[in-house]
Amino acid sequence: MKIILGIGGGIAAYKAAELARLLMQQDHQVQAVMTGAAQEFIQPLTFAALTGRKVLTDLFAIESAIEHISIAQEHELMVVAPATADLIGRLALGLAGDFLGTLYLAFTGPVVVAPAMNVNMWQHPATQANLETLRQRGHRIVEPDSGYLACGMTGPGRLADPETIVEAILLETRKRRDLEGEVVLLTAGPTQEPLDPVRYISNRSSGKMGYALAEAAAARGAQVNLISGPVHLPAPRGVELIPVRTAAEMREQVFAHLAPATIVIKAAAVADFHLSHVPAQKVKKTAARMSLELDPTPDILAELGRKKGDRLLIGFAAETQNLVPEARRKLESKNCDMVVGNLVGGADVGFESDRNEVVLALRTGETIPLPRASKREIADRIFDQVLKLRLALHAANGH
Ligand code: CTP
Repeated sequence: MKIILGIGGGIAAYKAAELARLLMQQDHQVQAVMTGAAQEFIQPLTFAALTGRKVLTDLFAIESAIEHISIAQEHELMVVAPATADLIGRLALGLAGDFLGTLYLAFTGPVVVAPAMNVNMWQHPATQANLETLRQRGHRIVEPDSGYLACGMTGPGRLADPETIVEAILLETRKRRDLEGEVVLLTAGPTQEPLDPVRYISNRSSGKMGYALAEAAAARGAQVNLISGPVHLPAPRGVELIPVRTAAEMREQVFAHLAPATIVIKAAAVADFHLSHVPAQKVKKTAARMSLELDPTPDILAELGRKKGDRLLIGFAAETQNLVPEARRKLESKNCDMVVGNLVGGADVGFESDRNEVVLALRTGETIPLPRASKREIADRIFDQVLKLRLALHAANGH
C-alpha cells in the first residue's frame, strides 16, 4: 500500500522512524512528509534512508506547484505520527500553511492520527475538541499511552507503540464498507421505570457505548436501528433512532424491529425491576419510611436468545467484579454469540466515560481483552470481532 507518513515536531518524532521501518518491512511504500518543527527534532535524511524516497518538507521547494495534488491522489492512506497539539489543531481547522497541511486537505483517503504531547496539553479541552473534530471526520485516532513523558510528568500523552499504530493502519484499510448488507438492531442507554408521574428508577448508563456502536456500524455500511433509552446524545448520522423510556417499551420496539435484523446488540442497561402499578398522582410524604415492592422487568436479551434464528446476538455485561466469569455466564444463560464485559463503577472507564476497556467472551470459547481506547475505537474492534465470529460459526456449521 502507498502510505503518506506525516511527522509532527515533537520529541516522539524519533519513534516515527521506527514506524517507517515497520511499514517498509511489511512491503508498504512510504512517503515521509515532515513539518518544519519535526526537522528540528530529526533529520529528513533518516526518513530518506529508511523509505528510499526524498522526504517532502517545504511547500515552495517542490518542482511543481501542484505536486501536493498528485501525491495526495497517488497514496491510499495517510498516517500522522507524532501528531502534536499544534498539528492536530491545524488539521482540525484545515490550515494549509505547510506541505503537510496542504497535502492533508488534498487527500481524500483514510487518515490515522497518533497524538503525542504533554499530559496537560493532551487533556486540555481545546486539544480534545480538535480531536473530536477529527473523529467526526471519520479519522482513526490512535490513543496515546500512559506513562513517563519526556517532560518529566506521568500520564497519557506518550505516542502509542509503532506496532499499535501499524495495527490501526491495518484496521483502517480493512474497515471499508464491510457491514454493507447487514441490518444492525441496537439498544442503548438506560431505561427509566416510573414510580409515580414525577419519579423514576434508572441507572448511570450514558448511552455512549451504544451510540458509538451505532455510529461505527453506519459508517461501515450497515442499516442501523437504534432503540435508545433517555440519553443526552445527538442521533448518529445515518441511523434510525427509536426513543423509548421503559424496559417494556424497549422490549416492544426490539421485537417490532427484529425481523430484518442480521446482528442484534443489546448495549442498553435495562432496569431489572419496575413498579407494576404506577400511581396516577404524585406520591405524598405521609409516612416516616416507605418501601417499594418491585416486579422483574422482561429480560429482553434472554427472550432474544430463545428467538434468535441465525442472527448474531451480542449482549453486554456491566459488572463491578468477576468480569470474565460473569460475561461467560451471561453468554450461556442468554444464548448469545458474544458478550461484551465491562467493568463499571471505576473512575476512567465504563458508564459516563468517553473511553472504555472491555473483554469479549465469544461462543467459540475465546476471551479477547480490548485494551483501553475511545468508545468509538472499541466499537470498531467489536464489529471486527463480530465479522470474524460470523466466519468462524459458518465454518463450524460446514457452510
Ligand atoms: N438485559 C435485557 N433485559 C433486562 C436486563 C438485561 O435485555 N431486563 C440485557 C442487557 O441489555 C445486557 C445484558 O442483558 O445486554 C446483561 O445485562 P446485565 O444488567 O449486566 O445483566 P442481568 O441479566 O441483569 O444480570 P445481573 O443483574 O445479575 O448482573
